[in-house]
Order: sequence, then C-alpha cells, then structure tokens
Amino acid sequence: MSKTYFIRTYGCQMNEHDSERIAGLLEMNGYVRAPDAESADLVLFNTCAIRENADNRLYGTLGHMKALKDERPELRIAVGGCQVQKDKALVLEKAPWVDVAFGTFSVGELPRLLAERETTGVPSFEFAEQTDTFPSALPARRADPFHAWVAVSVGCDNACTFCIVPYVRGPQVSRRLGDVLDEARRLVDDGVVEISLLGQNVNTYGRDLDGGPMFADLLRALDRIDGLRRVRFTSPHPHDFTPDVIDVMASSRVVCEHIHFPLQSGSDRVLKRMRRSYRSARYLETLSSIRAAIPDIAVSTDVIVGFPGETEEDFAETLRVVRAARFDSAYTFKYSIRPHTEAASMPDQVPQEAVADRYERLVELQERISLARNREMVGRRVEVLAEGPSKKDRSRSTTRTRTNKIVHVPGDLSAGTFVDVVIRDGHPHHLEGILA
Ligand code: SAH
Ligand code: SF4
Ligand code: F3S
Repeated sequence: MSKTYFIRTYGCQMNEHDSERIAGLLEMNGYVRAPDAESADLVLFNTCAIRENADNRLYGTLGHMKALKDERPELRIAVGGCQVQKDKALVLEKAPWVDVAFGTFSVGELPRLLAERETTGVPSFEFAEQTDTFPSALPARRADPFHAWVAVSVGCDNACTFCIVPYVRGPQVSRRLGDVLDEARRLVDDGVVEISLLGQNVNTYGRDLDGGPMFADLLRALDRIDGLRRVRFTSPHPHDFTPDVIDVMASSRVVCEHIHFPLQSGSDRVLKRMRRSYRSARYLETLSSIRAAIPDIAVSTDVIVGFPGETEEDFAETLRVVRAARFDSAYTFKYSIRPHTEAASMPDQVPQEAVADRYERLVELQERISLARNREMVGRRVEVLAEGPSKKDRSRSTTRTRTNKIVHVPGDLSAGTFVDVVIRDGHPHHLEGILA
C-alpha cells in the first residue's frame, strides 16, 4: 500500500506553488494524495508568517493534530514554510510531536527528512539560510490542468518596514530567462493555457542576473509562445513599474488586462516610514499612464490600516487615494507587528479600536467602489475561462475574465475552456453572466 499525504497551505500564491512542488516531490517518492487530513498517513502544513493571527492558528491546529496522533501513532506530521523559517527549532519546542520541520530554503530536503525520521525515531529538521537550486526545478503536482504558477524570482531586496518576507525568504534570486521560457513551453505542451508569474517584486525580475534580462523582455518572449492564451503576474512594486512594461502590456496578445498594484497607504508621511519609495501623487500618475495605455484594465491593491504613527489625517489621505484610484478590488489588512521588522520597534503603535474603526470605514468605501465598477460591466460581452463548478451552487460554473473578475455562469462548462458571456449583474466580489 502506498502512503498517503494531505497538505494544508496558508499564505500567498508563492506558498500555493511551493505546496504543488511539495506534492510533486512526495508523489515522486511514492506517496498518493489523501482526501482529508483524518485519513492521511502524512499531514503537512505549509505556513505563512505575514500577519500575527497566522502564528496563533498554526499552534492551535498542531494541538488538534496531537490528539489525532495519540489515536494513530503512525501518523506523521510535517511543517514547512515561512513561519517555520521564522520560528525554526521553536516549532519543535512548542509542538514536540511534529515529525519533520523544514524552512523555506529546504523544500527539496523533505524526502530525506521523512526517511531520516523513520530511521532515527526522533524529529528531523532543516532550516537552511539559503538555497542553491531554484525551487521551480522541483517537480510540481498542479491543482488545475489548465493553469500554472511559474516562479520567476524568489525573495525580495526591498525592506518595507512592516514586512517579514525578506527575513523569511531572503534576498531576490531570479531564475534564468531561458529556464522560465522552457518551463512555460513545457506547460503549454501539457495543456496549460494560463500562466501566473510569481515574484515578491516581480518587475525587478532579472536585476540580479548576468546580462540583466528585464521583466519586459520576459513578457515579450511569452507573447511568442503559441497556445498560451493568458499571462498574469504578481506582485509588481509601484516604484519599479517602468514605461517599457506598460508598452509590452498594451501590445501583448497574452498579458491580461489586470494588475495588482499595492498602495499600502495614501499618506506620504506613512509611505516614507514604511520605506515604500513612491508617493501618492507618483502612484496615481503611474496608474493613469497604465490606464491610458490599457483602457479596460482592472486594478487591485493592498492597503494596510493602522501602521505605527498613522493619524486620522494620514488615514484620510488613504481614503482620498482609494477614491481617486477607483480600484476594482482591494485586500485590506490591519497592521500586524512582525518580529525582525523595523516597524515593530517604532513608537506610537495605533490603538486597536482606532485601527478597527478605520478598517471598517475603508472596507465600506471599497465595497461601494467595487460594486459600482462591477455594475459598469453589465451588458458587456467578455471572454471568460471556465475553472469548474461553483463551490456554492454546483449548477453554475465559476469562470474568470482576463481582468481577473469571477463570473458565475449557469451550466456545466468544462474547466479550461474559453467561452463568451454577457454580464447580467454585478456584486462587490463577483459578476453573473450568461453564455453569449
Ligand atoms: N511582495 C508583495 C507583498 C507580499 S505580502 C508586494 O510587495 O506587493 C502581501 C500584503 O500583505 C502586502 O502587500 C501588505 O499589504 C500586507 N502585509 C505585509 N506585512 C504586513 C503586516 N505586518 N501587517 C499587515 N499587513 C501586512
Ligand atoms: Fe515585503 Fe515590501 Fe518585499 Fe513586498 S516589496 S515582499 S511588502 S519587503
Ligand atoms: Fe507568502 Fe506568507 Fe511567506 S504571504 S511569502 S507565505 S510570509
């Protein structure tokens, strides 16, 4: 009998993609996927450290796992990802029933660690501080046959004062242009029609490579791959969003009309303290140039509320910029103190009640804008890619526009096919349509 595994993933797309690599590695070593954690021989948690509630959640979940393991001593528990890279051996102190722990640079070591655990009978772990092999070289078991994540770089050379990512993922390391393109071609041969390029600061791709290929070169080369229909990328940094990238986006066949453009704050004083190297005026100017070149582009963003020292006036600036930018959608976060970051030791942390109040006002404003934006789509005919049955209502299919909007369509459309739909209704977070 083959051993079975179950992976629970927290955090961003980079972690989703790492989990696909972990699954690929396990399957190469004879494991098969289990339907749930309760029946699996190996349960693996791929963790995130971006905000504090992730921390508490993991140790709570590991507590539940202990109960499962008391009933089934042969159960193996593994933890990896950013929180493990942050906590290192502390994970095994807090949860000594964990069998294997591995940091973000040690994904490739997982099979060895699992084997070691069996021979030694004690937990095995590895928390390397850097890696030589680029992780995309590992096999991947993809969640969807038609879509693939492709990491173009890992790590980040910025030092936004709120952010733990540079600490847990290290400096930026880009993958060679030829390797990225080879992988893209292989994926397309395998039936993939949509690729999402991943990097913490995706538009500084190549800066650390000999010959310095640029992000625009990469997009241009992807445009020439026959059979590839859609390319997305996340996340660009507003400071590094250069005119050559706007030009390629405007002329490209495959690059989708959507960008994720993280604002973080609308206050110049706060942006400076966050060490985000653009200011609100410059941010809005770049956005205007993008919209002028690509008229129908949809824009999403990230905003943090309650960064240390944020005053009511600063927050009013954020509301002003959010109104001016008219984002299609926004991920809004309450500031969370992270160890190993500069902002953690800044004075005047904002009281929780003020943060909660500002957060609600921001969400309320953005919901109204998102709704208005989505209602503007009603009556329009758009191409969508079907992703499978809707989770809430299986008589409908979930599909996605090039602008990254979800459209629910009646009927059973097979995943991975393109159809044209007419938009009938708009909600803050999705649209409804019918086949054209
Ligand atoms: N590399 C990406 C960000 C990855 S983290 C980028 O620069 O866009 C995703 C989002 O989490 C960030 O954009 C930010 O809005 C939010 N975030 C990061 N650290 C945070 C913290 N300490 N508290 C609250 N939100 C945070
Ligand atoms: Fe974090 Fe800033 Fe790097 Fe994004 S650009 S990962 S927010 S340090
Ligand atoms: Fe992603 Fe969370 Fe790590 S957002 S990079 S999984 S800290």
